[in-house]
Amino acid sequence: MTSTVNGFDSAVAGAGHAGHLGSEAARREHGRLGEGVYRGPGALTAARKALRVALPEPSSRFDQNDEWCVVQQPDGSWSEFRFHDYHRIFDVPGLYEKIFYDVLGCDTPRFMADLFVDALATARETAGDVRVLDLGAGNGIMAEELATIGVGHAVGVDILQEARAAAERDRPGLYADYLVADLTDLGDDDARTLADHRLTALTVVAALGFGDIPPAAFRTAYDQIADGGWVVLTIKDAFLAEDDTSGFARMISDGLASGALEVVRRERFRHRLATDASPLVYEGIVARKRGPLG
Ligand SMILES: C[S@@+](CC[C@H](N)C(=O)[O-])C[C@H]1O[C@@H](n2cnc3c(N)ncnc32)[C@H](O)[C@@H]1O
Repeated sequence: MTSTVNGFDSAVAGAGHAGHLGSEAARREHGRLGEGVYRGPGALTAARKALRVALPEPSSRFDQNDEWCVVQQPDGSWSEFRFHDYHRIFDVPGLYEKIFYDVLGCDTPRFMADLFVDALATARETAGDVRVLDLGAGNGIMAEELATIGVGHAVGVDILQEARAAAERDRPGLYADYLVADLTDLGDDDARTLADHRLTALTVVAALGFGDIPPAAFRTAYDQIADGGWVVLTIKDAFLAEDDTSGFARMISDGLASGALEVVRRERFRHRLATDASPLVYEGIVARKRGPLG
């Protein structure tokens, strides 16, 4: 392992995240700041700066499922984090943002929020009327971007208790509700709660596939959205390829063929860098829900 804290970190940090924290004014407009023990975006920025991340040597190649890094925390200790161990990453304030945004150059939530707001403008709809289900919500970065474009109502769902705790700690008040639930086995109470929110859009950003959200959970979330509503998703291009075995390619291509999904925007983009600095290419899709998936 080599420490790549310096060169790689500084090379990509500028590509990432500066705009996120600038959204505080927008969130204040929505009157949702000030709950919980939130100490302001400055605390999150300071937490990010206090962490150091070292990546494996650039010549090594890992499957996206197996990527890892080592992290030095403010007490000086170093420990290893597998990228898909989100429960451990969310427990450390600022670590998710440090790894994926500051070091690996992710800007996907902002990119998708921009695509969504363009699509809304083309349809002459306003973000303020949209009621979003944010599936795989994590620590709330997508909710922050949705608030920035003017979405006034967002409900988070994640399978991890640690994700909800991190969202409350780092971005309190952005979600009207945040359910910790497994959508492959949605309980009656959670189903009622989601129905009561009268949801008109689904966002699933950086959360489909790779042992994260399976097609069955996506379908359950999709079923919560009103016909005519919006579906905003990102997915690695390989999951849409003809030889995909995850079930996503089939589900999406069947949805397009049947007319259940009407694509409004579809873009290939660099989601982030892998630990060997190669780009991970995803597709971003903004579609209208015109009917149930088959
Ligand atoms: C890479 S994070 C993305 C978080 C957020 N959407 C963002 O863009 O920052 C993936 C998230 O999906 C969640 N997740 C994984 N499997 C899930 C499932 N079956 N149902 C709901 N959430 C899941 C993880 O807990 C994690 O918070």
